[in-house]
Amino acid sequence: MQAKFLMTKNVKKFVTLVNNLINRAEGVPGMALVYGEPGLGKSKVALWWSANNDGILITAKKTMSPHWLLEEIVKEVGETPLYKSSDLFDQVVKALIKYPRVIIVDEVDYLISDKDTVEILRDIHDRTHNPIVLIGMNFADKKLKRNTHLYDRFSEILHFETFTANDIDMFLKELSEVKFTPKAIDYIHQTGNRFRQIVKLINKAEEMAATNDLKEITLEMVMKITRKDLL
Ligand SMILES: Nc1ncnc2c1ncn2[C@@H]1O[C@H](COP(=O)(O)OP(=O)(O)O)[C@@H](O)[C@H]1O
Ligand SMILES: [Mg+2]
Repeated sequence: MQAKFLMTKNVKKFVTLVNNLINRAEGVPGMALVYGEPGLGKSKVALWWSANNDGILITAKKTMSPHWLLEEIVKEVGETPLYKSSDLFDQVVKALIKYPRVIIVDEVDYLISDKDTVEILRDIHDRTHNPIVLIGMNFADKKLKRNTHLYDRFSEILHFETFTANDIDMFLKELSEVKFTPKAIDYIHQTGNRFRQIVKLINKAEEMAATNDLKEITLEMVMKITRKDLL
C-alpha cells in the first residue's frame, strides 16, 4: 500500500474554509468549526495544512486547563513559556500580532466542558484577529452552540461527510497496489466508508492478490474479505 495524502472532497472544502477565513472582509469574525465522525480525515488534514502553511496545530487533551493551553500555544509560536497565565497570554498575543498565523485546535471536545479554556481561544482571536479553526467530533456543533459568545464568532462551519464514491475510487486507485473492479468499488462505497476500514481492506486485498496471483479484486472477493475481517 502507498502512503499518500489524498485530496478528498472534505479536504478541498477544508482548504476553501481556511482560505475564506484568511481572506475575510474587515470586521467579519475569523473563527470556524469543523466537525464530523471519527475516521474521516479531520486530524490528517489539520496536520497536512499546518505543516504546509506554517500554521499552529494544537491537539487538546483531556483536563487541559487554560494555563496548559496557553503554554502549548506559546511553545508552538517558538517562545519559552513564562510562569503566569497573564504573561503567557501576552506572549501569545504579541507573537501572533507580529507574525500572524492560522491556529488549528484539534480534539476540541476536550475543551468544551471547561468554558474558561475554550474562551481563551475566543480572547486570542478577539485580540489578534488571527483565524482559529476548531476541530471536533460529531456533537461538537451542538455542544458549542450553547456558548453563544463563541458560536457567534464562527463565520464558517464545515461538517465532514462520509466519503463519496469518487473519494473511494481515488483511495483504491492511489493507495492500492492491486486493481478493484467497478462493482467491487461500488460495494466498498456502500459498506465501508471509514478510512481505517478501507486501509484494512486494501491490505487484505493485496495479500490475497499476491498469494493467488490475481490481477484484479472482484466484488465476490471483497465480500469474502469484509465478511471475515471487517464487519
Ligand atoms: N486525505 C487523506 N489522505 C490520506 N490518508 C488519510 C486522509 N485522511 C485520512 N487519512 C487516514 O485515515 C485515518 C483516519 O484519519 P484521521 O485524520 O485520524 O480521522 P479523524 O481525525 O476524522 O478521526 C488516518 O490513518 C489517516 O492517515
Ligand atoms: Mg481526529
